[in-house]
Amino acid sequence: MAGEFVAVAKASALPVGEFKAVEAGGKRLLICHTERGFHAIDDTCTHDDGPLADGWLEGTAIECPRHGARFDVTTGKVLCLPAAVPINAYRVAVEGDEVRVNVSEVLPK
Ligand code: FES
Repeated sequence: MAGEFVAVAKASALPVGEFKAVEAGGKRLLICHTERGFHAIDDTCTHDDGPLADGWLEGTAIECPRHGARFDVTTGKVLCLPAAVPINAYRVAVEGDEVRVNVSEVLPK
């Protein structure tokens, strides 16, 4: 299963600035489309399990709706407290109109 990309979204259905929650490989992920491309991160905030799918995406930063932590969706790095631990970000490939994610490949933080 290592190295396997799975289709999670249609690129044409997710304009820049939008994001959607999906399930892939037993994980709940957030697929985000930014000016820098498509990105996949865990949907659960590392501060207190807030659902990032209910948050706000501005540029490459997503803000948690619960207490305002922000993460870089391209890397998973924390941009703003109260979260202190980065979220996982996964490798994404776009083939034709398909956005694919490799849930076994976490990007370096
Ligand atoms: S649960 Fe996300 S900031 Fe607290």
